[in-house]
Amino acid sequence: MSRFYVTTPIYYVNDVPHLGTAYTTIVADAVRRYHLLRGDETRMLTGTDEHGQKLEREARDRGLSPAQFVSDMSDRFEAAWPKLEVVADDFVRTTQERHERRVQELWRTIEGKGDLELGTYEGWYCVGCEEFKTEKDLLPGNVCPLHQRPVERQAGEAYFFKLSRYGERLLAHYDAHPGFVAPEGRMNEVRSFVKGGLTDLSVSRTNFSWGIPVPGNPKHVMYVWFDALANYWSVLQGKAELERFWTDATIVHLVGKDILRFHAVYWPAFLMSAGLPLPTRVFAHGFLTFNGQKMSKSLRNAVDPIGIARAFGRVAGSDAAGADVLRYQLLRAIAFGQDGDFDLAAMIERYNADLGKNLGNLLARTLGLCAKMTGGKVPAAGEWTALEKELHVAIEGSWREATRAWDGLEPHRALEKTLAIASAANQYVDRAAPWAEDKKGNRARVDTILSTLLGVLAGLSELVWPVLPAKSDELRAQLGLEAIRPEPGRDWLAPGIKALAAGAALRPGAPLFPTVDEEGARALLEALTPRIEGGAATATATTTATSTSTATPTSISISTPTPTPTSTPTSASTSTSTSTPTPITHDQFAAVDLRVGVVRTCERVPKKDKLLTLAVDLGEAQPRTIIAGLALSFQPAQLVGRKVIVIANLAPREFGKGLVSHGMLLATGPSEALTLATVEGDVAPGAKLK
Ligand code: MSP
Repeated sequence: MSRFYVTTPIYYVNDVPHLGTAYTTIVADAVRRYHLLRGDETRMLTGTDEHGQKLEREARDRGLSPAQFVSDMSDRFEAAWPKLEVVADDFVRTTQERHERRVQELWRTIEGKGDLELGTYEGWYCVGCEEFKTEKDLLPGNVCPLHQRPVERQAGEAYFFKLSRYGERLLAHYDAHPGFVAPEGRMNEVRSFVKGGLTDLSVSRTNFSWGIPVPGNPKHVMYVWFDALANYWSVLQGKAELERFWTDATIVHLVGKDILRFHAVYWPAFLMSAGLPLPTRVFAHGFLTFNGQKMSKSLRNAVDPIGIARAFGRVAGSDAAGADVLRYQLLRAIAFGQDGDFDLAAMIERYNADLGKNLGNLLARTLGLCAKMTGGKVPAAGEWTALEKELHVAIEGSWREATRAWDGLEPHRALEKTLAIASAANQYVDRAAPWAEDKKGNRARVDTILSTLLGVLAGLSELVWPVLPAKSDELRAQLGLEAIRPEPGRDWLAPGIKALAAGAALRPGAPLFPTVDEEGARALLEALTPRIEGGAATATATTTATSTSTATPTSISISTPTPTPTSTPTSASTSTSTSTPTPITHDQFAAVDLRVGVVRTCERVPKKDKLLTLAVDLGEAQPRTIIAGLALSFQPAQLVGRKVIVIANLAPREFGKGLVSHGMLLATGPSEALTLATVEGDVAPGAKLK
């Protein structure tokens, strides 16, 4: 038995949980569950990053105290993850006393080593990144490429961490531990950054106060990244816990590629200075786009993962089941470590193919055959023929590759190999043809075939548990098995075909993954595609990053058998929704600049099926370029000369290289049958609506 400690980044609370942050958190949970199955003693940590200038400003902008603001927002993260079947062992908030105390202790230790020195700084600071930028990091006009906003000139007195002393030691560590940073390409990036020479790092500030006070000089608060990185260690309180999970454990930090440098350079240098052990591995994953588009808070199109899970829950039987389906798609469709697109249509397709027609079908046909041929009981296995032996070899091979993939943090591959087992078993049923043996009255053969299939399914219930915990329980219940309850020291994952107790009752139930037909898929897509899409906002509900509402699919039809009453979808259409929106104040409404525009030109956007690019006259010196998701409803020529309603003061939104929309049109209806909002009469372009 070994110990395994996995962490997610702690999330800034200026945002709400979205698909990007859910991704890392779900991977961490799945990896934790895999290690639990192996009998390891495991620990998973997630939490929220609550200090710094960005959050201080965000709170002020909302007229709240920072403490109140961060507390409300942190609660949303803590409440979100269990809805995605994530069970973390601890949730850290950097405003907790337990964290602040230990960070001050770390500071004192590093200071005691002579690695902190008072000095002055001056530079370009991106408050969004909470990081100084060099000019070569910036776009023309001193704009941060990540936040698309100009950086600020900041100067003042600060403590500096003597990072420059650690270049050689870091490089030596990378050489001695080539897996310290993964994937491999990322290790090379980090190495060349360090080889390029490290400068000392300013780790305190005096220009704001929302942070942990520097011990002995409370005029300074700690730099938010010094405070935040320490969370992984600060939560381990007491000698025994530190020994178990810091000194004597495999420690894996999962991070996005944008914050790799903090974790692979600064954090190990702080630890080296303090004389503490280093984590085992920092794994940098890629960025997700949604339906081909970049997601971010500033683009207001970040996607609510809980809405997706709930909508799939109506298909798959429960909210937990819906979370399983989302988990599966995120982990299977995107190679962990690379950028990837989360595409809803592809999700439905994969759900049908992998889960419905492969795994779900294997269970349904096996239990159907048992109901007919073995009286609904587990039969006793007889002598294996070449067919069973061949299947066994194939399963052992895929099984070992799946566990190797989990060990190497390749969940996409682990799932591919797991589903390969289900495919092999489906082919085996066809070849072994128990129905033919049954006709011949060959009882022993029928029993062997069906017990083999049940054994494969029992094994699959173990292998899928890290990703599909709710469905694993359901699968096992139908096999008459108890749900998996891992315990330290017990390895569940011995490869091969499992043996079920002969004579035990099977308990067939609802289909594990009822497939979605074309009409159901259309309704799901309609319900889940964010309302703000392609620059055309439908006039009704919007699904944005801040929405935690449940997207209600319109009339989902499920092809195999009748859904249970609890899974029957409602047929409320988003376009005719009668739900009462949250009231806004008069001032909030007045802040939206609605204007009449006239479309002067309109063209399709190459390679984007849904988008049109329009030049819209708002009575300004130049027509505005607006990118709108209208192409499924209109031919470009139909729109030229049309009067439209434009939200004229929306922040510009990027749709890819050089494609920036400077406004949004109002429309209503599904994307293939949109009606544009307009005004009657002779109204000049630019007229304000009130
Ligand atoms: N607070 C810091 C982390 C401190 S860790 C000691 C932070 N927070 S964050 O909320 O801005 O981002 C957290 C993580 O979310 C990062 O790893 C980032 O890469 C990830 N993601 C944000 N958007 C994402 C996608 N669209 N796709 C995948 N991950 C993304 O940085």
